[in-house]
Formats: sequence, structure tokens, C-alpha cells
Amino acid sequence: PAKVAVLASGRGSNLAALLDARTRGELPVEFVLVGSDKATAGALRLAEAAGIATLALDPRSYADRRAFDLDLFERITDSGAEWLVLAGFMRILDGEALRPWAGRIINIHPSLLPKYRGLHTHRRALEAGDAEHGASVHFVTAELDGGPVIAQARLPIGAGDDEQSLAQRLLPLEHRLLPAVLAELAGGRLQWDGHGPRFDGRPLSMPLQL
Ligand code: GAR
Repeated sequence: PAKVAVLASGRGSNLAALLDARTRGELPVEFVLVGSDKATAGALRLAEAAGIATLALDPRSYADRRAFDLDLFERITDSGAEWLVLAGFMRILDGEALRPWAGRIINIHPSLLPKYRGLHTHRRALEAGDAEHGASVHFVTAELDGGPVIAQARLPIGAGDDEQSLAQRLLPLEHRLLPAVLAELAGGRLQWDGHGPRFDGRPLSMPLQL
């Protein structure tokens, strides 16, 4: 099976969704490493419980971003991972460190990209008066939340929604979206052609809708 590393900074519910999908037999991959920039991340505890190797690196003990990212990616390479999934990893990655991984890293972002790159996506969708919100999985490039979008899941915004309800209603959609995209990637149906995603041999002109 394809070897996959995951990076996460927080509670790790998206990691849990990946592990559950694997347990259900829907995700034929082997998780070889879960890494974090936060030693206290819930995602690390989940990985330990699942018997997956973990790695916690503290950015404060490196001279700069590039030094941290180069060390991080060296360790990911050493783990044997072929693919890397960012599941709530809240750091910007250095373009130089990313280069050898082009087309092999995906990220989940809680907005309908290209809307609302960066933080506070739920609040920004509400403030803009949007009728719908959603989540996107995209290939990671040096541009923050700017890589080609692979797939999206959509959610209507209700009159009573606030930031918290929106985040809460979006999460189960994220938990379906991320394993589904990783399964296509590991299965070879989804590919990176140097510029963007190809699906079933054809360039993906619109994100897949899940
Ligand atoms: C998820 O909502 C994910 O989309 C978001 O962080 C949350 C992590 O939750 N990611 C980003 O905002 C990336 N910029 P989790 O730790 O429970 O998976």
C-alpha cells in the first residue's frame, strides 16, 4: 500500500477520519508517520494510540522557517512516505522545502477556495453574507492555500448560523472529503501532471464535488 505521512497541529479529527476510513477498508494506505509542530497536539495522541510513529518538532528551536521545514521534510522523507497529507497543519511551508514534494502533498482547508485563504474562514463567509460555505482539498504549492483545488464539499449557510455552528456542520463534510481524495490519489486515479490535477487521465478543469 501507498505510504502516507500526516502533519497536524491540533485536535486531529481529520486524522481520526483518515484512520477510521483505513480501518473500514476504504483507504488502502499505510500511515508511516504523524508529525506536528505542537507537542501537545491531539493528533499525536491519536497516532500513538494507533501505533503510528510520531514526530514533534518545535519551531522555536530552529534558526528560521527554512531550517525547520528542511529538517521536517528530511524526516518525512526518511519515514519512507510517498504522500503527505496536511490535516489541520497550521504553519506556512517554505517553497524550497516543498519543491521535491510537488504533486505529493495535499491540504484540507475550511473554505470554498479560492475564497478565504488563511484563517477565520467561517467568520469571513458569514460576514460576506455568502449563501454557502464548504471545504476544499488542494495540492500544496508555495502559495498559501493557493495550489490547484482537487475536490470540494458544500454546505448551505442558514439564517441561524454563527461561526461555531458553521465550523461544527462543516467538520463531518471534511471528514468525508479528505479520505476520499487520498483514496483516489493512492489508487492512481488522481494524478499531478506538473501543473495541476488530472483525474481519470484528464486535466481536472473543475474541482470534484463530494
Ligand atoms: C480543520 O477544520 C481543517 O480544515 C483546518 O483546521 C481544522 C483542523 O481540525 N485547517 C486549516 O485551517 C488549514 N489552514 P482537526 O485538527 O480536528 O482535524
